[in-house]
Amino acid sequence: MYKTKIAGIGHYVPEQVVTNEDLSRHMETSDEWIQERTGIKERRYAKKFEETTSILGAKAAKIAIERAGITPDDVDFIIFATLSPDYYFPGSGVLMQRQLGMSKNEIGALDIRNQCSGFVYGLSIADQFIKTGMYKNILLVGAEMHSFGLDFSTRGRGVTVIFGDGAGAVILQPTEEENQGIMSTHLHADGREAEHLAFINPGAHGGVHNPEHDYGYPTKEENEYGGLFLTDKMWEEGDYYPNMNGKHVFKYAVTKFPAVIMEALQQNGHTPQDLKMLIPHQANLRISQFVQKRMKLRDDQVFNNIQKYGNTTAASIPIALSEAWEAGKIQRGDLVCLAAFGSGFTWGSALLQW
Ligand code: UT7
Repeated sequence: MYKTKIAGIGHYVPEQVVTNEDLSRHMETSDEWIQERTGIKERRYAKKFEETTSILGAKAAKIAIERAGITPDDVDFIIFATLSPDYYFPGSGVLMQRQLGMSKNEIGALDIRNQCSGFVYGLSIADQFIKTGMYKNILLVGAEMHSFGLDFSTRGRGVTVIFGDGAGAVILQPTEEENQGIMSTHLHADGREAEHLAFINPGAHGGVHNPEHDYGYPTKEENEYGGLFLTDKMWEEGDYYPNMNGKHVFKYAVTKFPAVIMEALQQNGHTPQDLKMLIPHQANLRISQFVQKRMKLRDDQVFNNIQKYGNTTAASIPIALSEAWEAGKIQRGDLVCLAAFGSGFTWGSALLQW
């Protein structure tokens, strides 16, 4: 059986830099608060009316394809991870396929919705296809354009200051080389925590998961069918932004990150000391620092770039991995661990040799 290697990697972040100072002109927040609680100094926002999640994904994909030494026509499957798709449906994978001029080949395109864990989930899916020999060049993309759907009033500050736009991509290929490729992936979820970090409205939930909450649904007389997706009340109250119970998410993240990293290391007979690089999902610098301390890792063993980009959800791991590789911090054969935690809750890890 083959193993799966990363044959090409690339990332794209939009040009527009938005500082904490910039945000403080729209909402009651401060550079001091944001840096102290999250480590974030600035983030990027995509160009409105020009860029979308699938377009950011296509820009990162082009770089990964070129670096893998292949052409778009060689790609035989697409996996696209995002929580901010261009459309509710169809997924952004088909839009990126069109953008890259690959649609004529009619290759499959799978969209996955695992939020911050999307890239690790996607990597695990791709790994199964490659190991069995079904595909030879999988394009896996994590991309987000959060800036289109955040609340820029003070009410939204607990969420809005954290997130940024960007995309990362890899080309995955089979390898029979020793000391190279994905060793294992580990995926977890706990749906009991779903609403603690969620984009609930508009949606097709009909209030079923939270009967105590008044979503303002019309009576049967007012609207016999329909009228459930986005109600007047949601619209009038601006109840159509992401919700996050930050403290609760934080508490879970700092236990699940170390656990899922240790799971990957132990399965393969390794210890944290063996790691060349840990690439944690960039959720909050304080979370990464907590994990580093708990696992007794040196500064050079953990890569962080949340300071520049904020939390780019499904894109954060491939952007960080791409930057670490570009900076020469990861070389052929190095032991690398990717780890993610986020909405769902979902979390996961992947251990690989570069
Ligand atoms: O990638 C997905 C996973 N997501 C995460 O991992 C997020 C995990 N959670 C966190 O990173 C942190 O909980 C946050 C950074 C989101 C928030 O930090 P916190 O230390 O938990 O603050 P808090 O939510 O408890 O808020 C503390 C105070 C509140 O004011 P009061 O009630 O103490 O008067 C907030 O209203 O800070 C206030 N606050 C802000 N103040 C200035 C919340 N957001 C802001 C803001 N600027 N942007």
